[in-house]
Amino acid sequence: CSFLVEKDRKYVCDVLCNGLARLEYRGYDSAGIGIDGDAPGSPILMFKTVGKVASLRKEILEAKVDMTKVFVSQTSMAHTRWATHGVPSNTNCHPHVSNALTEFSLVHNGIITNYKELKLVLLKRGYTFHTDTDTEAVAVLCKYVWDSQPHKRLNFTELIKTVIKELEGSFAFVFKSTHFPDEIVAARRGSPLLIGVKTDRKLKVDFVDVELPTNEERVNDPDAGGLLAVPNAVAEGHGAAGPKLRRSQSRAFLSEDGMPQPIEFFVASDASAVIEHTKRVLYLEDDDIAHIAEGELHIHRLRRNDTISSVRAIETLEIELAEIMKGQYDHFMQKEIYEQPESVVNTMRGRVNFDTRQIMLGGLKAYLPVIRRGRRLLFVACGTSYHSCIAVRPVFEELTDIPVAVELASDFLDRRTPVFRDDVAIFVSQSGETADTILAMRYCLERGALSLGVVNAVGSTLSRETHAGIHINAGPEIGVASTKAYTSQYVALVMMAVQLSDDSISKTARRQQIIDGLHDIPSQIRQVLAMDKSLQQMARDMLAKEKSLLIMGRGYQYATCLEGALKIKEVSYMHSEGILAGELKHGPLALVDEHLPVIFIMTRDSLYPKVQSALAQVTARKGRPIIICNEDDETVSDNAKCIRVPQTVDCLQGLINVIPLQLLSYHLAVMNGVDVDFPRNLAKSVTTE
Ligand code: G6P
Repeated sequence: CSFLVEKDRKYVCDVLCNGLARLEYRGYDSAGIGIDGDAPGSPILMFKTVGKVASLRKEILEAKVDMTKVFVSQTSMAHTRWATHGVPSNTNCHPHVSNALTEFSLVHNGIITNYKELKLVLLKRGYTFHTDTDTEAVAVLCKYVWDSQPHKRLNFTELIKTVIKELEGSFAFVFKSTHFPDEIVAARRGSPLLIGVKTDRKLKVDFVDVELPTNEERVNDPDAGGLLAVPNAVAEGHGAAGPKLRRSQSRAFLSEDGMPQPIEFFVASDASAVIEHTKRVLYLEDDDIAHIAEGELHIHRLRRNDTISSVRAIETLEIELAEIMKGQYDHFMQKEIYEQPESVVNTMRGRVNFDTRQIMLGGLKAYLPVIRRGRRLLFVACGTSYHSCIAVRPVFEELTDIPVAVELASDFLDRRTPVFRDDVAIFVSQSGETADTILAMRYCLERGALSLGVVNAVGSTLSRETHAGIHINAGPEIGVASTKAYTSQYVALVMMAVQLSDDSISKTARRQQIIDGLHDIPSQIRQVLAMDKSLQQMARDMLAKEKSLLIMGRGYQYATCLEGALKIKEVSYMHSEGILAGELKHGPLALVDEHLPVIFIMTRDSLYPKVQSALAQVTARKGRPIIICNEDDETVSDNAKCIRVPQTVDCLQGLINVIPLQLLSYHLAVMNGVDVDFPRNLAKSVTTE
């Protein structure tokens, strides 16, 4: 954050720690903070801990630092880490610094893939390293660039530009320097970054013009050469005769009278960190470099890209603080499971007309003819979002008659899958920031495929870079294990399939049946939630002590098996596998004995008899089934252990069946003593490959 307003040190630490706590779901193995020292330009004060933000607060509290010291202007940074390079430890925790004097310090999300090469070159030039991280190489590189210019003429932005041109990989950075006290530079490529603006005074503009590189600078672009190849180019390229930014193009924040005004800037990777201070945010684009100083914000481009707008608008967020707080619930996961009757309504709001039985997804309207002409629908996603694609594959095939492929983003990229101009690629992601999904999207864009996003996080990279799409409007999802985003993705995708088929008269009855089904989904979810106590009991009596669990079903329910098993392993650490019942005889049956619990998803649809026969095969081998069936299913004996759920249209039944599995996994996690919202080794947004 960067403040031009009279505040004491405690205020800054509180702002940073609260922001970190809100971002903790993105990574939580260590946390660190870097704040201004006592005198301008003195080394920054750093506090770091392994573990969660609560320990960092304690560390700050115990430090012998004057918290009442008041500053007129301050720049500070903090970070919560999900380790990629180097174990979680105090040394590897951010902020990272260039040297003991902290001449350059930074926090970083992402991965610098060429850090080893950078480190090697810098080591050869006498620089030293103290951590195992990729990030430290960037801090030291800043110092090297600073040292290499004889007359120290580079300003902070120019210096960071030079550094960034050398980096490969993905990043969102915030830089601070003792040479430029009261200034902050932030930059992104591949990892999300936004800037919140808080001020009581009226802003002259509610957008920022981007400063584009001059022609001269483009000629000097080190894509031809590079800093490490030609070290003196830095001094030569950016010295007195170096390129000048076209100041006239820039408009930043100024009060109406042009005087500096009390103003606070919050740079964060996610809006949840800034929402309690301001709802006015500006999203940075890849290769943007934002410079904040003296109450002004200027945005520069690393390189000209005519497809990216040269204006960054300040948007007003619609989320409320309450939405990202736990309220009456013990955990975010529990809260989000319970929110589903409302979140699915929010996904449908304004898009489904239950009277005329019509669906209109505004974001796709202009593209419907192109989608219908597509030769293949290519769904690409990771984790739970991938499961929502599997869940809707049958209904897309049925309603659109277009071949459908569902791909895990990483595997799709590994195979360098052929993609053509007449493919329609659909990227599904809660966060809109999952690295593999973003890379897959860019891969498809390069090949000319129409690329659509189905995303929860408004303003995320996926929602901005796709041609069009659907916001699922499920509200912020904080729990690492995705729950309400799954059901909302599912609903959004079913709506898309219905809308795509509305030019087909022969499918009218089926469409209407689905729309009627959607109408009742919220109350049916509520009905399942009311069974929570008995599910808790079942988790305790039948599953809590088990080592392993199979979840079996087929057809529409295959996705439910996969998603249920993922939920259970993610938060309870119990081994569990989702199995297509049709594959039972081809291997999984060998696992079945009197010790193995098997959940059967056996709600009524055209495949019901086949699932019944799989159940018979498991009981014949003394397996211990728990059956998810419809409430009025008399063929399932009352003696059987079962979870009875309301019946809906076959292609929507997965929305209902997944709820008991979410609740079971939640209870198992609590019983096993797992920190439900922060399961070990996982993170909410996986912004690295
Ligand atoms: C991580 C999360 C999962 C999520 C997956 C895809 O693994 O822990 O809950 O399903 O990423 O995330 P996305 O934001 O793209 O849906």
